[in-house]
Amino acid sequence: MGEGEKKGAGRKPWGGRFAEPTDAFVERFTASVGFDRRLYRQDIAGSIAHARMLARAGVLGEDEARAIVEGLEAIRAEIEAGRFEWSEALEDVHMNIEARLIERIGEAGKKLHTGRSRNDQVATDVRLWLREAIDGLRAEIARLQEALVDLAEREAETVMPGFTHLQVAQPVTFGHHMLAWFEMLERDRARLADCRRRVNVLPLGAAALAGTSFPVDREFVARELGFEAVAENSLDAVSDRDFAIEFAACAATLMMHLSRMAEELVLWSSAQFGFVELPDRFCTGSSIMPQKKNPDVPELVRGKAGRVFGHLQALLTLMKAQPLAYNKDNQEDKEPLFDAADTARDCVRAFADMLPHLALDRERMREAARRGFATATDLADYLVRKGVPFRDAHEIVGRAVRLCVERGCDLAELPLETLRGFSERIGEDVYEVLTLEGSVAARDHLGGTAPRQVRAAARRARARLRAG
Ligand code: ARG
Repeated sequence: MGEGEKKGAGRKPWGGRFAEPTDAFVERFTASVGFDRRLYRQDIAGSIAHARMLARAGVLGEDEARAIVEGLEAIRAEIEAGRFEWSEALEDVHMNIEARLIERIGEAGKKLHTGRSRNDQVATDVRLWLREAIDGLRAEIARLQEALVDLAEREAETVMPGFTHLQVAQPVTFGHHMLAWFEMLERDRARLADCRRRVNVLPLGAAALAGTSFPVDREFVARELGFEAVAENSLDAVSDRDFAIEFAACAATLMMHLSRMAEELVLWSSAQFGFVELPDRFCTGSSIMPQKKNPDVPELVRGKAGRVFGHLQALLTLMKAQPLAYNKDNQEDKEPLFDAADTARDCVRAFADMLPHLALDRERMREAARRGFATATDLADYLVRKGVPFRDAHEIVGRAVRLCVERGCDLAELPLETLRGFSERIGEDVYEVLTLEGSVAARDHLGGTAPRQVRAAARRARARLRAG
């Protein structure tokens, strides 16, 4: 088939004004059907609602509307069966479907676009698509959160070193650490729910930019499509993509959190830490070093954060300084938006699938906490309770730690006499606070790391998940 005979070529839906056919390269350059065909379901749903509304308003005959709806449903079936012939000459998903409708049902098909423009059509499609993507992503985040709560409950007593500056700081429980991750994700899920409210607004009716001279019932269309509100201003409705930017910002923040979790999993699964072992089926080997088992999944998640940050930047830049109303620049919103949503969802899924199968080396974690003087603060607090001002207590314990470093032992291994050499207020009961279990159990308040608190926090976390 020659260039001129390509499907749709030479009979553009907007061809009337043009004296020569589109340049072949320009046709390819301006087409979006390669990626926006993904919106076919939303495009058809929007068109069906529009056609029904036009019939109610008396703009279309009942039989015309019926033919349109049936035609569109048949086209949806064609697309889903892989029988639809997409044409680049027809530019985008909207014109491909409309052209096919006309091909199938004739005259009535030519009336579908009454009172509408591709500008309000595409904004509607993208919002419908994103609404679903948000719901899917939020459900996946909740699944990961479930896995974290399960781990938190199971490991409420498991002691590990807590870090600041990646130096051993104070002992914490593994369960507590899992619930820290839970909280990050809980805010991500809430941010997405909030974003969804602003996504879920109907642009249709704005037409090209100024509204339409036909008596459209936008409230009806909004109800048909499940939109919570109708966009107030037609110029704004067709032009702004801030909802996509907002989603990308939510996705970027989520990815930032996932990258932090990923980094810890990479560290923890190294021979040097040895806290956890990732399931074999989530790792790969090296083609040269036979001993290697690489944490590819967390590493990839960490790396993919960069992609999503980039998409946020791309969307912001694409919107920046655009004059009202619609500009073709906005066609560039889809690829970053789709990829941000797909990437975030895949990454959450990978973690949700993997975390329940994490193997813990509880002994290694304990040992790492013990060797790092994680209970030094507990000794200082002990002295404070015996009447020593905190600053002095800090100094005293610092000297005791230095001695331990010299001797290569732990604070709990110093004999009472030696400890009393640092402060006479130290008594036999000091060894209770120097144990790791004593240290974590002492942090027994809302938000603290004590096993009792972790279990209570896990129960509350489950209730929050159930609340939606
Ligand atoms: N493919 C276009 C987009 O994604 C649809 C809207 C085109 N509107 C126009 N007036 N050229 O933005």
